[in-house]
Amino acid sequence: MDSSRPIRCIGVSTGGGDAPGLNAVIRTVTLCAIQRGWEVYGIKRGLEGLFDTREILPLTRDAVRGIGHLSGTILGTTNRGNPFAYPVPKGDGTFDKVDRSDELVKNFHRLGLDALVSIGGDGSLTIANQLGEKGIPVVGVPKTIDNDLSGTVLTFGFDTAVRAATEAIDSLHATAEAHERVFVVEVMGRYAGWIALHAGIAGGADAILIPEIPFQIENVCRKIERRQLAGRRFSIVVVAEGAQVGGERVIKAEADESRTEVRLGGIAEVLAREIEAQTGKETRSVVLGHLQRGHRPTPTDRLIAMRFGAAAVRTVADRQFGVMVALDPPQVLTVPLSEAIRMKTVPLDSDIVVTAREMGICLGDD
Ligand code: F6P
Repeated sequence: MDSSRPIRCIGVSTGGGDAPGLNAVIRTVTLCAIQRGWEVYGIKRGLEGLFDTREILPLTRDAVRGIGHLSGTILGTTNRGNPFAYPVPKGDGTFDKVDRSDELVKNFHRLGLDALVSIGGDGSLTIANQLGEKGIPVVGVPKTIDNDLSGTVLTFGFDTAVRAATEAIDSLHATAEAHERVFVVEVMGRYAGWIALHAGIAGGADAILIPEIPFQIENVCRKIERRQLAGRRFSIVVVAEGAQVGGERVIKAEADESRTEVRLGGIAEVLAREIEAQTGKETRSVVLGHLQRGHRPTPTDRLIAMRFGAAAVRTVADRQFGVMVALDPPQVLTVPLSEAIRMKTVPLDSDIVVTAREMGICLGDD
C-alpha cells in the first residue's frame, strides 16, 4: 500500500466460531473509524463477502445502532471456506481445494479498501496473516471463547462462556444433591482447558479434567468415593471437550473437505458410563455446547471488545499492519500476527492450577 495515501475506507470481517462481543467490536470499529472521517464496510460470512461483492454491508452509525450488547455477529461468520484451500465441488460428491486468494485480494483492492480489520481466532487470523503477506494491510482482533490465542492475556468471549458454564454448574448442584448423583459436565475450549478450569473452580466442581493434564479415571472415581464416605453423596465433574481418555480425544465429527478441524465432543458421556460402572453411583452427563457462545456478552467482554475495536482503528491509523491487538493489562498493545496465532494452553504451574490443587479439587492425575 502507498504509505502516503490517506486511509479513507476500511473493511471489517468476523471469522470462525462466533463469540459474545463480536458486535461490540464491529460497532466500536465503525464509530471510531467514522470519527476519523473514514468509510467502513462489513464483509459478510467471514471473508466470503469478498468473493461476491454484493455481500458487502456499508457500516454507518445507523447500521451499528443498538448491537453492542448482543451476542452473535451482524456480519455472519463461518469456519469453512479457507480462501487458500477453497472447496470447489467436482460434481461427483467430492471437492477440489483451490487457492482463490488472488481473487480475494483483487476484489479487496477493487472495492477501494485501504485496510482490513479481521476479527477471529487462530484459523481466521492465520488466514489474515497470509493475506497480509499477499499485500492486504491487515490488523487482527483476538476473538474466541476458548482463550487459546498467544500474545493476549484474554480474548473476548471467554468471560461470557465462563459465566454461562459456571451458572450451569451452579444449577446442576441442586439436582445432583437432590438425587445423590454424579454429573459430568462437558464444556468447550478445543485443545485448551481454560473454560473448564475457570468455570469448574468458580462453580465448585469436585473434579476438573483438562487437555493439559493427562488423567486416570480411577483417580476421579476415588475422589467421588471419598466424598461419598464423608457423607457428600453427589459430585460434579467438569471436563473439557478436548481432554483425552486413554491418550485419545473423543470426536464428534472428522474434518471434511471444507473444514480442516475435527469437531470435538462426547467425552462426558464416555466418562459418565465409566464412572457409573466403577463407583456404582448413578451418573448423568450434560454437554453445554453452543449455549456457551449464545449468552449476552458480560460487561468485561464488552469492554475488552470495545477496547480492541478502538485499538484496531488506532493501529490502522498508525499504518501498523500484520499485527493483532492484544490485552496486556492495563495496556492494549499490538503483537505480530505470526506470534499471536500460536496456541496458548494452561500452564501447569499457573496460579489457577495450583489454586485448584490446594482446594482439593481432583485434576485426575493423582
Ligand atoms: O472455537 C470455539 C468453539 O466453540 C470451540 O470451543 C468448539 O470446539 C468449536 O468452536 C465448535 O465449533 P462448531 O461451532 O463448528 O461446532
